[in-house]
Amino acid sequence: MKCHIEKLDYEGRGISREKNKVVFIEGALPEEVVEAKKIKEEKHFDLYKATEILKPALQRQTPFCLFAKECGGCTFAMVSYRNSLIYKETILKDLLEHNGFNCPNLEIIPSPKQMGYRNKISLKIHHQQPGYYKENTHDFVPITNCLIALPSIQKLVQDFSLFNIEEGSITIRSNKNDELLLIIESQEEPKLKEELIQRHKIAGIIWNEKCLYNSPFFFERLDHLLYKVNAESFFQVNLDIAEKIAQDILMFFSKEDIVYDLYCGVGYFSLKLARFVKQVIGVEINPKAILNATYNASLNNLSNTSFHVGKVEEILPKLPYHPSKILIDPPRSGLAKQVIQTLLASSVPKIVYISCNPKTLMRDLKKLTEKYEIKSLKAYDMFPYTKHMEVCTMLELKDC
Ligand SMILES: C[S@@+](CC[C@H](N)C(=O)[O-])C[C@H]1O[C@@H](n2cnc3c(N)ncnc32)[C@H](O)[C@@H]1O
Repeated sequence: MKCHIEKLDYEGRGISREKNKVVFIEGALPEEVVEAKKIKEEKHFDLYKATEILKPALQRQTPFCLFAKECGGCTFAMVSYRNSLIYKETILKDLLEHNGFNCPNLEIIPSPKQMGYRNKISLKIHHQQPGYYKENTHDFVPITNCLIALPSIQKLVQDFSLFNIEEGSITIRSNKNDELLLIIESQEEPKLKEELIQRHKIAGIIWNEKCLYNSPFFFERLDHLLYKVNAESFFQVNLDIAEKIAQDILMFFSKEDIVYDLYCGVGYFSLKLARFVKQVIGVEINPKAILNATYNASLNNLSNTSFHVGKVEEILPKLPYHPSKILIDPPRSGLAKQVIQTLLASSVPKIVYISCNPKTLMRDLKKLTEKYEIKSLKAYDMFPYTKHMEVCTMLELKDC
């Protein structure tokens, strides 16, 4: 089918209207005319994939990656970085407008690194080859490199024959010191070659939750703080821009503040805040991350923190403190209903909400703005060339 693309949806797909039905087209840009084939039919929309670009947009160029078209992870691999930011800014503006929020001075802060920024990638292994599954499918796309990963990770992917794993998956994490944590899942124990340890700085190898080599964690030093990060604990994936976010949000806090850091992970934001505020109380579901957070606080001589393990929805109503500010950094699913109810009932004066999913952020903001006013909203390009972005907003309790 021949489609004229009007604009992009929040997933970075082209939007077209065919016979009064909305059609989303993967791999198409605004103002393009493309030939597309149907992938999925839903009640209110159809999903298509561009098979031929009949009239390319001026912004279109050769993708920077050989695998981009098949792998699909880098939605904007076929435009310049500057243009990818313009598209993302428009997507976010449309989403805000659509949800009734007016943010006239919206800006998206570029990532200091546009390639080689990701400190963690998860690959499938099929017939000893590394690759990705095409988004929303189990179609294996073999790769020989991933240019958005840190150079230490790229070097390992290019050396994949050292692994000898027939089928399975591997998550590769690296710190800024190029030390790698390898988390392997496979039926048979991998017969790793000696050169793996000789040619790469291996901090640890974990196979099906068993530590095969060295330790199941590494350390990351950032801004005079040292973090221990367990293989299973979340850590920010693009540290250069995460550091910018951390610096920017500090202006919302002052030294008298008692702060809840909800969804605190290993204490990335908690420790930074603890150096400036009176007290930080972190909550996190992952027991290993909470162990890391507690350890990290003492490792950095910070005695004004405490950490609680469990679901925010269950722990938050029971916490005995009176916070002056709350920092929230939830997973992509956003806030559970009970969390929003507790926040609204708490009447805490300020909430700083960091989101990696603008769609769930909009849903949550609609509820939170019953009692709160958006005082600032800024986007950060945490995931260059992909459709994803990080949004940070500060909410203040309205005068009642
Ligand atoms: C986006 S990460 C943020 C982590 C941390 N703020 C950081 O900057 O490293 C979200 C965190 O929420 C945790 N999490 C997910 N669901 C949760 C829940 N219901 N209650 C508490 N923590 C949860 C995850 O384990 C993860 O560590």
